[in-house]
Amino acid sequence: MVALVRTVVGVSLVGGLLVVLLWSEQQVGVKTPAHTHFHAHARGIPPESAFEDASEKLEVSFHTVTERLNGLPGPASSSEDNSRDSMNVFTHRSNSSSSQNHPRHHQAHHHNHLKAKTKNSSDAISFPAKVPNSRQIDSHNVTSSNLSLTSNSKSMSSVMSSNSLNNNNNNNNNNNEDDDDAERSNVVNSNNLVFNIDNSLPAPNSDMPKIYVITPTYRRPEQVAELTRLAQTLMLVPNLHWLVAEDSIAPTRRVLAFLDSCSVPHTYLLATASRRYKGANKPRGVSNRNAGLKWLKVHAKEGVFYFADDDNTYDYRIFNEMRWTKRVSMFPVGLVTRLGVSSPIVSDGKLIGFYDGWIAGRKFPVDMAGFAVNVQFYLQRNTPTMPYSVGFEEDGFLKALNIKPEEIEPLADNCTKILVWHTRTVKSVPALKMPDTDKVSKTNLNYLKPQMVFQMPFGLS
Ligand code: UGA
Ligand code: MN
Repeated sequence: MVALVRTVVGVSLVGGLLVVLLWSEQQVGVKTPAHTHFHAHARGIPPESAFEDASEKLEVSFHTVTERLNGLPGPASSSEDNSRDSMNVFTHRSNSSSSQNHPRHHQAHHHNHLKAKTKNSSDAISFPAKVPNSRQIDSHNVTSSNLSLTSNSKSMSSVMSSNSLNNNNNNNNNNNEDDDDAERSNVVNSNNLVFNIDNSLPAPNSDMPKIYVITPTYRRPEQVAELTRLAQTLMLVPNLHWLVAEDSIAPTRRVLAFLDSCSVPHTYLLATASRRYKGANKPRGVSNRNAGLKWLKVHAKEGVFYFADDDNTYDYRIFNEMRWTKRVSMFPVGLVTRLGVSSPIVSDGKLIGFYDGWIAGRKFPVDMAGFAVNVQFYLQRNTPTMPYSVGFEEDGFLKALNIKPEEIEPLADNCTKILVWHTRTVKSVPALKMPDTDKVSKTNLNYLKPQMVFQMPFGLS
């Protein structure tokens, strides 16, 4: 009996030791090819394959296709209107309010997989039922317009290389630089690439409707980096209020510190998603967007609001476009599904359908970043919230606004320009723990520590 107990204790001790060893190896020791690549990349060392034909690459001379030596008059620096807003509200959203939303679980579950898949062109275009013109554009027309874009871009590159020859011959001559600018404009114009979007930043005045940007965010290593990138775009937009709504139980210190030094007027809201809505194939950012909407209901009377995920890329000019939205405005979003863009289809200035890689029976097959809503209109429509329904958040919300497709205002030059992209950031693994030594506690490292997201023991993060 004693021997049996000894054996059991012995075996479990050895087993435990093995688990500890394996675990610590996972923390620091094991180098997978991905790790090696990561470290090489972080140090600026190209991966081995890049060395293979380095000699060949050196032989290739390069052409300067286009460059601008004189700066364009850029947007004015942010006005006094962007001075720090002293209001910094923490709103705890009760779980009970989330139960008002009834998640619908139909085909939605595989939304993210579906979104990633290539779509048949028949899946790409949707027309609202009652719009007149809707037969004027069919999938054939859309495809042929894609084709014409391709041939345009080919001709552009040939024109551009001749432009580059001019550049090489006429360096350091101001008049010729002006000529080059004119020629560049022709090239760009003739290829439908010119942005007839207002570049200027109008001085803020009281007539200018305020833009409320609702940004859902959550704790992860890249969080502050994303918010920094977004904030630096928003700094270029006058008369804007940023609602940073975090999906968290308690405020993240790093986010508070970031906002403390952020010049964009803002309100920080806490909005924990109930456990029911957490995990893979669950809607992301819905509880926080709804917290933003609830805040608007209480604090906003007029203006325009927009859902800006923290990881997308925004041209500051899209905000000045959406500022004058009467009801609901829409515009193209780049990098959505394998089609590369999600956009309303516009003919004669009217929205007649949607081009999107995942129609899925949606009345409004658009991306979250592809529409803005007038605050007064929203208040008149009894302030609906967003449904907890993966893939159908936008559609559910827009349907609840009770807007007719023909009332939608197409922006960005009748939806001919992409000014926002659904970019995604590579997920960073939380950092390894800093050692508890004087080299950390008595040096700058001690200050870096609170700015980082660390891996928790046992794989929690
Ligand atoms: C896409 C859409 O762009 C989202 O608008 C939509 O909510 C989401 O799919 C969905 O259908 O669930 P995607 O880029 O795939 O978004 O997702 P993320 O960028 O990971 O998340 C969207 C937003 O929600 C981000 O601003 C993110 O910070 C936030 N989020 C994500 C949370 O607040 N909590 C989470 O647990 C995850
Ligand atoms: Mn995203």
